[in-house]
Amino acid sequence: MCNHLLALKDFDRDRLTALIERAMVLKREAAEGLHHQSLSGRTISMLFEKPSTRTRVSFEAAMYGMGGQVIHMSSKESQLTRGEPLKDMARVLARYVDAVVVRTYGQEVVEELARHSEVPVINALTDLHHPCQVLSDVMTVLEKKNTLESLKIVWLGDGNNMANSWIEAAAIFGFPLTLACPAGYGPDEAVLDAARRRASAPITLLDDPREAVRDADVINVDVWASMGREDEQEQRRRIFQSFQLNSGLLAAARGDAVVLHCLPAHRGEEITDDVLEGEHSVVFDQAENKMHIHKAILEHFIL
Ligand code: CP
Ligand code: NVA
Repeated sequence: MCNHLLALKDFDRDRLTALIERAMVLKREAAEGLHHQSLSGRTISMLFEKPSTRTRVSFEAAMYGMGGQVIHMSSKESQLTRGEPLKDMARVLARYVDAVVVRTYGQEVVEELARHSEVPVINALTDLHHPCQVLSDVMTVLEKKNTLESLKIVWLGDGNNMANSWIEAAAIFGFPLTLACPAGYGPDEAVLDAARRRASAPITLLDDPREAVRDADVINVDVWASMGREDEQEQRRRIFQSFQLNSGLLAAARGDAVVLHCLPAHRGEEITDDVLEGEHSVVFDQAENKMHIHKAILEHFIL
């Protein structure tokens, strides 16, 4: 059994469904004032090489909320910036803590840490994947729509880390996924090929945003320039213009469509302010669900 959470592809539907169902129970219980202390006496280390608001705070709130403790390190504070080998760091951290949550650039960094770590390594975003985020997104869709398979779920914009993890989720959960990305900005080809081989429903890649959004039940958007690609911001702003989710484009979707954005959002770029603040947007429920899914993940991987 895989004891690290590096990418969704390493899991089967039953295991991911169990995580989401557990997160839903924890959410319901927290609303009723019931807080588990199941991680009392446990500690996680969080190593972040990129900025974060939601992921950091929701992991910390999840861990403290279940009685555990957190040691957060930015990469600047660690010996990583001075070239300490990942395999040494992984073996040392495992002597102190019960899991390591990492946000970094290369997927190979979390893979190398996991190879040498005796405690679970959890991917809190790399350039290739954002698996914990997409689990909370799938949870949000299930909360709002109560199904996945019978929906038209759309990814609009950059074929980035979020798109790649959505593609893997589609293959595992068996729902159809339509992506619309500008030519040259599609998802990772290896991720897409592998997912299509595994999938029981089509994963369709288009370059026409209107065709993608037509009759959509769920529309996912994300920034046009992810962290680490800020130098491409201007060029991307021009190339991605027709992929902006505004009220005109949203009108092509179903009347009860929901709009997801993992945040942070750039209002006026990938999404307009009125859509982000409008009746279709579920982005703040989606953000809340990160904490509940992180509780379920920590419990599952640590206990
Ligand atoms: N959605 C998300 O991962 O947000 P942060 O970058 O703020 O953690
Ligand atoms: N694709 C975005 C997600 C941020 C949570 C990025 O990597 O910057």
